Amino acid sequence: MAVDALTVGAVAERAGLSTATLRFYEDRGLIQSTRTTGNQRRYPRHVLRRLAFVTAAQRVGLTLSEIRELLDTLPSDTIPTQDDWAAVAAPWRELVAARIRTLERLQTSLDECIGCGCLSLTRCSLINQDDAAATEGPGSRWVRRAEEAGRRRP
Ligand code: FES
Repeated sequence: MAVDALTVGAVAERAGLSTATLRFYEDRGLIQSTRTTGNQRRYPRHVLRRLAFVTAAQRVGLTLSEIRELLDTLPSDTIPTQDDWAAVAAPWRELVAARIRTLERLQTSLDECIGCGCLSLTRCSLINQDDAAATEGPGSRWVRRAEEAGRRRP
């Protein structure tokens, strides 16, 4: 174990996060720790940069799954270099651009819906965005299908 390994409390304090959040991130594979002989968590010092990345990525709207995918591209056996971090951050541009496009579509929907208030299942994209079921025709097809599947079970 590295001499300068940090305790969970030290990492929480330095990163401004709770220890519960650190455990949650570790469960999700965003960070890794080693264990002492007394089964206490120890984190490498460079985990602070990973946590800063997670916080920044969440602020731009990335999900934890997306963040995990990006972090998985970092080398796991060495301390990531500046170039490694630059490579991880590169896909942000497209992800952020996609988020912006989604928000712009939502804003357009809001503009259309403010003052309308119908929340129509057939024409309101705010309440029924990307209506996949509409391609199969009217009615509660998916509910009926689920009920039929439930009846067929032994
Ligand atoms: S609320 Fe009427 S179209 Fe969205």
